[in-house]
Amino acid sequence: MYRDRTCGELRLEDKGKKVTLAGWVQKNRKMGGMTFLDLRDRYGVTQVVFNSSINPELFQAANTLGREYVVEITGEVAERENKNPNLPTGDIEIIAEDLKVLNKSEIPPFTIEDNTDGGDDLRMKYRYLDLRRPSVKKNLELRHKMAFEIRRYLDANGFLEIETPILVKSTPEGARDFVVPSRMNPGEFYALPQSPQLFKQLLMVSGFDRYFQIAKCFRDEDLRADRQPEFTQIDCEMSFVRQEDVIDMFEGLVKHIFKYVKDIDFTEPFPRMTWKEAMEKYGSDKPDIRFGMEFVDLTDLAQGKGFSVVDDAELTIGIRVPGCASYSRKQIDELTEFVKRPQVGAKGLIWLKVESDGSIKSSVGKFYTDTQLKEWVDRMGAVPGDLILVMTGDAMKTRKQMSELRLEMGNRLGLRDKNVFAPLWVIDFPLFEWDEETQRYYAMHHPFTSPNPDDIPKLKSDTGNVRATAYDIVVNGNELGGGSIRIHDPELQNEMFELLGFTPEKAKEQFGFLMDAFRYGAPPHGGLALGFDRFVSILAGLDSIRDVIAFPKNNSGRDVMNESPSPLDPAQLDELKLEIKPILH
Ligand code: AMO
Repeated sequence: MYRDRTCGELRLEDKGKKVTLAGWVQKNRKMGGMTFLDLRDRYGVTQVVFNSSINPELFQAANTLGREYVVEITGEVAERENKNPNLPTGDIEIIAEDLKVLNKSEIPPFTIEDNTDGGDDLRMKYRYLDLRRPSVKKNLELRHKMAFEIRRYLDANGFLEIETPILVKSTPEGARDFVVPSRMNPGEFYALPQSPQLFKQLLMVSGFDRYFQIAKCFRDEDLRADRQPEFTQIDCEMSFVRQEDVIDMFEGLVKHIFKYVKDIDFTEPFPRMTWKEAMEKYGSDKPDIRFGMEFVDLTDLAQGKGFSVVDDAELTIGIRVPGCASYSRKQIDELTEFVKRPQVGAKGLIWLKVESDGSIKSSVGKFYTDTQLKEWVDRMGAVPGDLILVMTGDAMKTRKQMSELRLEMGNRLGLRDKNVFAPLWVIDFPLFEWDEETQRYYAMHHPFTSPNPDDIPKLKSDTGNVRATAYDIVVNGNELGGGSIRIHDPELQNEMFELLGFTPEKAKEQFGFLMDAFRYGAPPHGGLALGFDRFVSILAGLDSIRDVIAFPKNNSGRDVMNESPSPLDPAQLDELKLEIKPILH
C-alpha cells in the first residue's frame, strides 16, 4: 500500500501518530521557511507542512512540486495553529518526514477546486480532471449510494435484477432509435434499447413476477438539461398487480430514498392529480406544486367586449402573482419579451395591477370598463398589491405558454426552493395523442398501455378521450418516472394496434414475438421506470443531469473528451457493407 490513511480522515485525536498519505497536490504555498501543501484524494484534503529548519532537503524537494503531482508523504499528525473550520481535517496538519513523487503532472488546464476557473467546454474536454473536483465527485458518490439503496429496497421486496439485451430490434414508436449495423448480417441493423419495455413484459410471461434493472437506455432525441442520449432508468415490472399496487410499491421506494438521502419523512400519501386537472391548473403534465399561481379561466368574462384578440381565442387564462403590483414598466416589458421568445411562442401578455387603494391599472383599459376588470380581479381572488398576468389563444398552446410564465414567476420570486420537495402522481393520462402532421393517433405512453377499463367501450367511438391506466411521478416540475398497467389480452392488444394504424402484418413484423408470447398465458402486469439520473440530480439540487453522469454528452450529443461520434474507417464501412451519402450542409 502506498498509504495507510486517507486525506479526509485525520482529526485532533490522531495527534502524534505517524501516517502515510498519498494523493494529488492541490496547492503548494511557500511562506518564508515553510511550505504548506494541500494534499487531495477522493476523501478530502489534508495540509502538509515542510519546515526548512527541520528538514532543509525535504523543504527544497517540496518546493519543486507542481499542481496535481501525485505524491506519497509520511509524517506526524500535529495540531494546527491556524485551524480551518471549513475543512473536516482543518484542526490538524502533517509535519512531513518523507516525500516520494509518484508521478509528475503537466499544469492542468483549469484549477481543480470547487471554485474553478474552467468553463463548461474545457471541463468537459478534460472530464477526468473535472471529476477530481469535490463538488462533481460528491454527485457520483450520491449516485452510487442511491443505486445501492434502491437495490436494497427492491431486493427486500422480492424483486430480481435481470439484465436484458442492448442490441435489440428497432421499433418505430417512441423516440428515434440509435442503430448498430450487423457485420454478420449485412444490410441489417440492431437498435439500442430506448427502454427494456418489451423484455420486461416477456419476463412477466416467463413468471418472474417482480423484475427490476438499473438499465442503460438510448434515445436519439433533442437534448435538454434533463435529457441525455444515453441515460439510466430504474426499470421495474410486476405481475398480478393493479395501478394501486404499482403506485404503492414505488411511492414506497421514492419515500425510502428521500428518507435515506435527505432525512425527509413523507408521512402522507403523495397527492394525485389527473392529467386533465394538471393541464387545466398548471398547463403541464409535470406541474411544480411547490407554489400556487394556478390558472384561472377568464374566457367568459373577457369575451364579447370588442377586444378581438380575446374574442377570437379559444381560452383566456390568468395567474395571480402576489405582491407584484409594484412591477415597473421595464419589469413588465421583460415578462412580455419572455413570453414572446420562440421557446415560449406567445404573441403578447395582458396585465392587471391591483393598486393599494383597490383601483385597477391594466394594459387592456381601452377595451374593458373598471367594473368589468373588477370581475376579473374577483374571480382571480386578487387583493391590493397583486399582479395578474393573462394570456389568450388556442387552449393547449396558451396553457403551455402560461406554464412557462408561471415557472418563470416562480423562479423570479424564489418560490422554487431546491430544498423543498413536492412529489405527486399524475394519473389518467389520455391513451392516445393526435398528430396533425401524420393525421393519426399515437400512443401517448406506448402501445402496450392498457386503457382505463371504464373507457374500453369508447375506444373506437371517442378515441381521443380514452384514458390510459398510466401514471407519472413528478417532483418539483420534473417527470421523475412513469409507467402503466399493460394490456395482457391479445385481442385488446390487436385492437390497440389497429387504432394506431398498424396493419396486422406490420404489427406482427414489429411486435410478433410479444404477441406470440401473449398466446401462452400472460399474467396481468404493469410497472414503471424512474429516471435514475433525474432522481439523483433532483436530490443533489442540480439543474442538469449531466452533473450526475461521469462522462456525459453535450447538447449536440457529442462527447468532447473522446471526440465521438466520429467517422468510420473506410475498411470498417466496407466490412459492414455501408456507404456514406454526401453530407449537404
Ligand atoms: P418513459 O419513456 O416515461 O417510460 O421513461 C421513464 C423515465 O426515464 C427518464 N427519461 C430520461 N432521462 C434522461 N434522459 C432521457 N433522454 C430520458 N428519457 C426518459 C424520465 C422518464 O420519466 N418503458 C417505459 C416505462 C414503463 O412503462 O414502465 C418508459 O421508458 O425520468
